[in-house]
Amino acid sequence: MLDAPSNRPALPPEISRRRTFAIISHPDAGKTTLTEKFLLYGGAIQMAGQVRAKGEARRTRSDFMKMEQDRGISVSASAMSFDYREFRFNLVDTPGHSDFSEDTYRTLTAVDAAVMVIDGAKGVESQTRKLFEVCRLRDLPILTFCNKMDRESRDTFEIIDEIQEMLAIHVTPASWPIGVGREFLGCYDMLRNRLELMDRADRNKVAESIKIEGLDDPKLAKHVPQDLREKLIEEVEMAKELLPALDPQAVLEGHMTPIWFGSAINSFGVKELMDGIATYGPEPQIQAAEPRQIAPEEPTVAGFVFKVQANMDPKHRDRVAFVRLASGHFQRGMKLTHVRSKKPITVSSPVLFLAADRELAEEAWAGDIIGIPNHGQLRIGDTLTEGEALKVTGIPSFAPELLKNCRAGDPMKAKHLDKALMQFAEEGAAKVFKPMVGSGFIVGVVGALQFEVLASRIELEYGLPVRFEPSQFTSARWVHGEKTAVESFVQKNKQHMATDNDGDVVYMTRLQWDIDRVVRDHPELTLSATKEMQ
Ligand code: G4P
Repeated sequence: MLDAPSNRPALPPEISRRRTFAIISHPDAGKTTLTEKFLLYGGAIQMAGQVRAKGEARRTRSDFMKMEQDRGISVSASAMSFDYREFRFNLVDTPGHSDFSEDTYRTLTAVDAAVMVIDGAKGVESQTRKLFEVCRLRDLPILTFCNKMDRESRDTFEIIDEIQEMLAIHVTPASWPIGVGREFLGCYDMLRNRLELMDRADRNKVAESIKIEGLDDPKLAKHVPQDLREKLIEEVEMAKELLPALDPQAVLEGHMTPIWFGSAINSFGVKELMDGIATYGPEPQIQAAEPRQIAPEEPTVAGFVFKVQANMDPKHRDRVAFVRLASGHFQRGMKLTHVRSKKPITVSSPVLFLAADRELAEEAWAGDIIGIPNHGQLRIGDTLTEGEALKVTGIPSFAPELLKNCRAGDPMKAKHLDKALMQFAEEGAAKVFKPMVGSGFIVGVVGALQFEVLASRIELEYGLPVRFEPSQFTSARWVHGEKTAVESFVQKNKQHMATDNDGDVVYMTRLQWDIDRVVRDHPELTLSATKEMQ
């Protein structure tokens, strides 16, 4: 077995065995199928098909809402933990639809690496690219899985070139496909000098591995017909000459991605990828925070909320804050300090997400994701510690790109609507603005589909039919500056002003021209399209 490279002093074994990552992909590339196989090999489910019931397209255990099931999209991110070999994998699910990029962005703040799944016939698609850019902002290590090799796919060099060119990252082949489409036999494992052959008869069977001594080993001829063998030898020689060799440090720094080829549905190439995550994926990393960063090996517990999910179980109206542990060894019943309010919180029923089920988490370590049920005190961006006033940084909130007025179908129920909207705002599912002039609320989202999700959830969870109507505004910007300067600006522009759900001042308009004018005429103020979560 290969030793995991490390870019830091040795971590305690319980921490260093953790791999916390997300899968990024364009819809349909095979993320759900791959997740299912991960869970299968992680022993978290017993048979394939448990994650997505057969015949019922697109339903994973991580899809909480009916809306998601109807739409076939995963709207909310959730976490799944499972063991693989001596490693603990924490897989954080990201919503695949582009309308949920903000949620995805925040999810990616909670992981140490990403697995990028691409479809071998389609290459790098728009959503893959967007998500990749987000990973790049944080220099997240990326491992690539080129899926659907059992179908007609592009030439291997072409796929690698496309990734290198479109994403500006070095690509090193960890495996090399033998044949494509109907002729696809399996892969040559370039890192371990092994032949992996796919079993087409049984989709759930893990590939047969054959140890060979280089590509001139006579065993190759036994398993690979001559034409494919010649092609393989020629291509692998070319690849070794033209493409960079695997540099584990460059992978950890996010400059190089190893690529595995496979077919998730045929269980092919998945174990190799999992071995790759174990070996080349990073251990829990240092977390940026103020006034100092947090190292995973610190003995005291620190963590931060990157997602809040309300009403996961409509019967119980609970709210679960997903917390990424940045350091220490957490034990159930611990008293932690909620840094924003300076209040203690006793975490008596933390939840670990083990594939299908939630389980009480008796303990967790830096790198793990735990769910903390609460009544609304935990918000996205909040830090929990054992007392020190640390604030995790880098969890952004984006200005919404679409704004609409939200009205209750029944005006008598407007009060309940306020409550529902506030809750979704705290959950991070939308921005809610209260205009300083006039009544009602303006709801802002990043993608249009979010309005439908909100309307459906408000109706489902609060029994309130709502309408979203066009708003007179199309843009919102947070206003920062000296208190008196902001107040004077607010007084003069009341028609344009609102407060967000945290009480922060927002300037709203229809015209980019207005924004430019404010920027030009008010050098004492800054208008920003993002704000750090409080
Ligand atoms: P996603 O979560 O990224 O959106 O993708 P998902 O896993 O749902 O896969 C999308 C489609 O691609 C599914 O087919 C799935 O069966 C298929 N698929 C996944 N991996 C492979 C593979 O290695 N080879 C081939 N040939 N197909 C693959 P579907 O017909 O849309 O759904 P279903 O009827 O299979 O449920």
